[in-house]
Amino acid sequence: MTNQSDSFKKIISHAKEYGFIFPSSEIYDGLSAVYDYGQNGVALKNNIREYWWRSMVQLNDNIVGLDSSIFMHPTTWKASGHIDAFNDPLIDNKDSKKRYRADILIEDYVAKIEAKINKEVSKASKRFGDSFNKEQFLLTNPRVKVYQSKADGILKRMGKSLENEDLADVKALIEDLEIACPESGSKNWTDVKQFNLMFATKLGASADTAIDLFLRPETAQGIFVNFLNVQKSGRMKLPFGIAQTGKAFRNEIVARQFIFRMREFEQMEMQFFIPPGTQKEWYEYWKEKRLKWHYNLGLGEGNYRYHDHEKLAHYADAATDIEFQFPFGFKELEGIHSRTDFDLNNHEKFAGKKLQYFDPEKNENYLPYVVETSIGLDRMFLAVFSKALTEETLKDGSTRVLLKIPPELAPTKLAIFPLVKKDGLPEIAKKIVTDLKWDFTIAYDEKDAIGRRYRRQDALGTPYCVTVDHQTIEDETITIRHRDSMTQERVAIKSLFKFVQSKLSLSELLKKL
Ligand code: GAP
Repeated sequence: MTNQSDSFKKIISHAKEYGFIFPSSEIYDGLSAVYDYGQNGVALKNNIREYWWRSMVQLNDNIVGLDSSIFMHPTTWKASGHIDAFNDPLIDNKDSKKRYRADILIEDYVAKIEAKINKEVSKASKRFGDSFNKEQFLLTNPRVKVYQSKADGILKRMGKSLENEDLADVKALIEDLEIACPESGSKNWTDVKQFNLMFATKLGASADTAIDLFLRPETAQGIFVNFLNVQKSGRMKLPFGIAQTGKAFRNEIVARQFIFRMREFEQMEMQFFIPPGTQKEWYEYWKEKRLKWHYNLGLGEGNYRYHDHEKLAHYADAATDIEFQFPFGFKELEGIHSRTDFDLNNHEKFAGKKLQYFDPEKNENYLPYVVETSIGLDRMFLAVFSKALTEETLKDGSTRVLLKIPPELAPTKLAIFPLVKKDGLPEIAKKIVTDLKWDFTIAYDEKDAIGRRYRRQDALGTPYCVTVDHQTIEDETITIRHRDSMTQERVAIKSLFKFVQSKLSLSELLKKL
């Protein structure tokens, strides 16, 4: 992989070393942009999914779940626009033979201009100290103004050319900016071409009768085609939502940055069906609600920002990304899209079946509008994992590596240690495991010195370690050691369940929403 900062490399190697993420089919040298989740990764991923699922389906009495298939009738993708419009603009460098997304080459160029602006800001902030006013500086500094207007101009031209399908101008822009191939430094480019991102496969045994199928590139269409099934069988009234999580597949060209951009990934999507005309209000509602869901994890509010789209996807009348500060900068984590009645309308046309909703209050039939929230589970995993990985220098000069995963999402909630492997301590420790394992994921460890056992759990993100020592035999108390502060407290075994429940259960996290 190229262009990875040291901290990002550490994240990838920690994920592998501690059983979170492995490259797919690694013994065959892996498969590009496909990854497997190991024993701790799958636990963290399940917990994130559950946080999302329960916040949608359990906490909203007008949102229900669905699990639709990956394979869908091929006409689905004609109706959704994916066959005609789910393309990336690609450009090849004739010398290096490397293929790039043209829009990403241009965005990377703009990111360099933005880095120059940031450099000016930090220089000025050092110069002016406490009296520095960043907003005013950005608006008035002549050099920054020139940079900003250049960046805005480039993005505006690119947005317009892509919207008008003017691929010749996208190439002209790359040439005007003298963008070189990051690999070879050459500026010898082919024309820009559109490339469809769906994976095709076949259904059926014989070559002449087999039907061409696509692996779904989003889970959303499974919700749209089931809209009336759910509405009628659940006697749902507008506004209501359908949520689902599941795999999606995209033949991504620029597939780098670990699990940020994968070819096989998982989405968590919710389509909220509403009366036409109310889309603005519901779009704002879900924008705010989803950001709150993210803030609630305590990863730091400064790590999120909205990015409203100028170039809208083929189905949307308004769209924003919730961007997150990944190790390689602010990038899209979640999308909130006002999809109008684009999808239901097209499915009606292509299927020749009515998908209208009967509104008992208005006594009329109409096609609902839709506001969608769509987040990549793997991207969310990367957000949590990358912010959690911390290296600390301790007072004695040694370093400690820990994963500050939000406790409610941690793969293992508690680790139970007998101080020594004798004197009846393992038996007491194992009894605690047996009592708590019905409700929480618990680890038991009796190997190595206690300090090393703590370090192992720190690196796995286990929020609390419980040690059974000789005092336990006398007074039935244990020590609880806190992962982040390394402080210890002594509590009675009988109050352990309550302690874990209050600090670690997902319900407590959901109550804060
Ligand atoms: N139904 C709308 C939809 O699919 P999208 O913006 O293309 O919208 C939604 O995707 C989310 O899915 C993104 O915000 C991102 O988190 C995730 N996602 C998209 N492509 C991905 C990929 N190649 N690898 C990992 N996650 C991806």
